[in-house]
Amino acid sequence: MNAAPDTTSDDTTPATPAAPGSIVHEIARRRTFAIISHPDAGKTTLTERILRAGGAIQMAGNVRAKGERRRTRSDWMGIERDRGISVVTSVMTFEYGDCIFNLLDTPGHEDFSEDTYRTLTAVDAAVMVIDAAKGIEARTRKLFEICRLRDIPIVTFINKMDREAQDPFALLDEISSSLALDTSPATWPVGRAAKFVGTYDLYRRELHTTEPLEQSDPRMVQLAEELELAEAALPEFDLESFNAGHLTPVFFGSAMKEIGVTDLLDALASFGPPPRDQASETRSVHADEEAMTALVFKIQANMDPNHRDRMAFARICSGRLQRGMRLKHVRIGKQFALHTPQFFFARDRQLAEEAFAGDVVGIPNHGTLRIGDTLTEGEDLRFTGVPYFAPEILRRVRLDDAMKAKKLRQALTELAEEGVVQLFRPQDGSPPIVGVVGTLQLDVLQARLKGEYGVSIGFESTPYNLARWVTGPREKLETFCSVNRSAMADDIDGDPVFLASSAFMMRRTAEGQPELAFHDIKQIG
Ligand code: G4P
Repeated sequence: MNAAPDTTSDDTTPATPAAPGSIVHEIARRRTFAIISHPDAGKTTLTERILRAGGAIQMAGNVRAKGERRRTRSDWMGIERDRGISVVTSVMTFEYGDCIFNLLDTPGHEDFSEDTYRTLTAVDAAVMVIDAAKGIEARTRKLFEICRLRDIPIVTFINKMDREAQDPFALLDEISSSLALDTSPATWPVGRAAKFVGTYDLYRRELHTTEPLEQSDPRMVQLAEELELAEAALPEFDLESFNAGHLTPVFFGSAMKEIGVTDLLDALASFGPPPRDQASETRSVHADEEAMTALVFKIQANMDPNHRDRMAFARICSGRLQRGMRLKHVRIGKQFALHTPQFFFARDRQLAEEAFAGDVVGIPNHGTLRIGDTLTEGEDLRFTGVPYFAPEILRRVRLDDAMKAKKLRQALTELAEEGVVQLFRPQDGSPPIVGVVGTLQLDVLQARLKGEYGVSIGFESTPYNLARWVTGPREKLETFCSVNRSAMADDIDGDPVFLASSAFMMRRTAEGQPELAFHDIKQIG
């Protein structure tokens, strides 16, 4: 069954290899991906091993999940230090094979899931890590669904095969039935639990074990039997289905024991998708177009406590970025000089003299760039697809010192632009409401307002539990807003939002307004 995937059938691969150094060549060797998983499945351990395999051992120490090292990495923010969680999304770049990998890290805690969702708009593939004993868990499923919305190809890594695990057939079956995703084993485990010693590579028909095994070894006998069954029963790898997000190649391994990690990287290098096309309001932008375009998917403040800068993380969607180039900041219609784009290597950064589609650069700025902004060489083009999700928790901000109202307004705007919280200004002029997906975001807001702006706030409950963006014919919308003024607010872009106390109220209101649409996701960009 599984012959080595033939990447030449991929539309995005040129028929003749592009000359090294050319834009087309550089773009074709970019692999930009994220790892999605349920907490504890082994994302951090796998990240560390991947970086080590990519020759970035120094960085690997900084990624460690728990304990001192993780804290070291994120020590810019007290709240992270205190709780030992990671709120930061960063990018790690390394070279493996002939490819440049950009691994986009995502926050581990689900209260910061909005960040993760936005980061997934900047990747070309996702590695889904599954605990071999637990199978598909809640957060894996949720993140998978976000990937599916965007047809992001998924590579599966079944981790912790060195422990008691479910049967590989049962795991493959669970993935296909519960996620409605075809599975094609790329490797097969050799031995189980304490006797797990490696993998059989079904594409290259090679055995990768940590010790030599006799053909008579029970593990080899079991492998031969299982392979026969697997080859008869399971689908072959199909590049087109993989690229469309319908089929996942499955790798077995143990991140902790460093088994199966290079299988995964070799596969990503060989058939992992190169930078994909990006949708814009006017057209689809191909990665290997000459002109540079980029999309801001994340803003991060305080990357470096010594420089109070804001870093916009931009994914290059097409062409070549060169330091010093003048770009058009499409939302505000102004020229933007790109003096200090930066690459990130876990905690370190370095000036980016040039970068190509698929790469992620940090652009220091003082608030000119926002999530969803598009940068071009002049074309009036706006990328779409960066989502804002309707928050599930809405709180009114109570200012302790009324003299600081102006400062609070500025601070809330800046932090909302960064995506820390969503900000809703009630149309009746009452104090601002902040919306979050998880309550930890409120703690972060409070700590940062105090720490960075010297503003103390508290939170008060609101009668609202739901927010929906409202769109429709202008006149209808204006009438709706004035009739429901006390429940209307403007978001950070000035778009109207209707606040409701319950799902029932929301439904009833929406039913009474057939010409208006109520959205729980706002696509920006
Ligand atoms: P996460 O980022 O997905 O939350 O998971 P993380 O890598 O932190 O791993 C969670 C736990 O699972 C850790 O153990 C880690 O050592 C363990 N682990 C990860 N990969 C493997 C594997 O392949 N095999 C086995 N047996 N265990 C694995 P911990 O006890 O919670 O933390 P620690 O004390 O080891 O740091």
